[in-house]
Amino acid sequence: MNHLKTNNHWWQEAVVYQVYPRSFQDSSGDGVGDLAGIIQRLDYLKKLGISAIWLSPVYQSPNDDNGYDISDYEQIMAEFGTMADMEQLIDEAQQRGIKIIMDLVVNHTSDEHPWFIESRSSKDNPYRDFYVWRTGLDGSCPNDLESTFLGSAWQLDEPTGEYYLHLFSQKQPDLNWENPNVRQAIYDMMNFWIDKGIGGFRMDVIDLVGKIPDQKITGNGPKLHDYLQEMNAQTFGGKDLLTVGETWGATPEIAKLYSDPKRNELSMVFQFEHVGLDEQPGKSKWDLRPLQIRELKNVFSKWQTELGDQGWNSLFWNNHDLPRIVSRWGNDSTYRIQSAKMLAILLHMLKGTPYIYQGEEIGMTNRVIQDIAEMEDIESKQMYADRRQKGYSQTEIFASINAKGRDNARTPMQWDDTENAGFTTGIPWLAVNENYHEINVAQALADKNSIFYTYQKLIELRKNHPLIIWGSFELVEDTTEEVFAYYRHYQGESWLIVCNFSDQEQGFSLDKTPSETIITNTEKDYKQLFDRTLEPYEAFVVNLSNHAR
Ligand code: GLC
Repeated sequence: MNHLKTNNHWWQEAVVYQVYPRSFQDSSGDGVGDLAGIIQRLDYLKKLGISAIWLSPVYQSPNDDNGYDISDYEQIMAEFGTMADMEQLIDEAQQRGIKIIMDLVVNHTSDEHPWFIESRSSKDNPYRDFYVWRTGLDGSCPNDLESTFLGSAWQLDEPTGEYYLHLFSQKQPDLNWENPNVRQAIYDMMNFWIDKGIGGFRMDVIDLVGKIPDQKITGNGPKLHDYLQEMNAQTFGGKDLLTVGETWGATPEIAKLYSDPKRNELSMVFQFEHVGLDEQPGKSKWDLRPLQIRELKNVFSKWQTELGDQGWNSLFWNNHDLPRIVSRWGNDSTYRIQSAKMLAILLHMLKGTPYIYQGEEIGMTNRVIQDIAEMEDIESKQMYADRRQKGYSQTEIFASINAKGRDNARTPMQWDDTENAGFTTGIPWLAVNENYHEINVAQALADKNSIFYTYQKLIELRKNHPLIIWGSFELVEDTTEEVFAYYRHYQGESWLIVCNFSDQEQGFSLDKTPSETIITNTEKDYKQLFDRTLEPYEAFVVNLSNHAR
């Protein structure tokens, strides 16, 4: 099968690393990560080999939702540093061949943003229509729309007696995208950042901006794609920036609307179909059920094959909203190293742009909590209050929070085995995982068999093998359920990727002799025909073409 490169953008060949600045590196001793801390760690990221950093929000914010509630898009949060630090970060990253992708949070602002302060002040203020205001019905909410963080999405505001919409917390009022002045203000702000030399935008809950709250339409509203085409034309269009939309409800058909190159919208989207596979269907993320590997194979195969040339995949296990993958679908005790490497190999051999979330490359794990005092995240706190009121037991609630809570991803980065894992000399804003004595960057760099070097090698392989970037995908069907195996084919060459997704041995046979082992998490030599047993979490990639390159 011959597949030609059709598009060719830097972001199709890139691996992106997500930094959650609050938890990455504190340089000032106040217990909160900062920009100067990120600059100190750029050489580490260069060694890993990544091409871009997605920086979770660093803008001025009262931190109701850790920076996803912005009160000034053109100022840096004081805890994180100054605009001069930001410019230095962009510059120093660029010197190391790393682009900075900013988080664009424009579905809503903070209620402390000057636009909202004006907007709520009176019904005839020029900024009134920057947000979504409605009169109540018989003294209660305009309708029963719910916030993602639970409770009504409408908040009565005393000064004018009307309700404003907030699809997230009460301190995150939704912007009114139907107002052209809102859109223009956003585009101007985006151009302010583009002019600073950034490499692109990750667009927070972008699928919500076309909402029609009166009809209770939130995601995928009718004008959504018009807005994105307008945004593209007025900001990043023609500049080859990486733009990735966070789109929880995307199907492959919807994803193509965003990322078909002919439509001039975004580079790619984050779709979350695999992320929901350990939830009870039709319920929330907190209602747990075990992952079925068969379903994971189906979902990945669907996304790998259906976008074709009309879209581009993003590949991820983790981000700041999701639990740690090694604790979630790997094994964070006996097989932590094996399973973390298996998960890395499985994901990084797929077609699309891989994203690594800070600490994933050293196999950081969830941190189990036993007390509400240990929770920082607004989503978990609101869920706790809601479920206590509904009569759920503490045990049930903590089982959900420990499995899925967002604080799992947000514990500080584990750099070394000194106090607070080298993250801060002060008191960390969120407790460091106690396992930092064993799991930390210094340890990983010193051990040539560490998870870090598997990630480094995967990134290096992607740079050197067009097959990984452009090759087609074919699932191997005749395996046991727990073995996830697939081929990549490109210009007459075929690679086979085999991953044992379980803590049990599995059988696997092959009728062709591999010519070369590309990468593995074992010591085995695969250059022979085999019909044999895979170890727990064993993963390998072999070249099946007749000749080694
Ligand atoms: C996105 C962010 C999440 C945030 C929410 C509201 O889902 O990833 O962290 O809470 O949007 O901005």
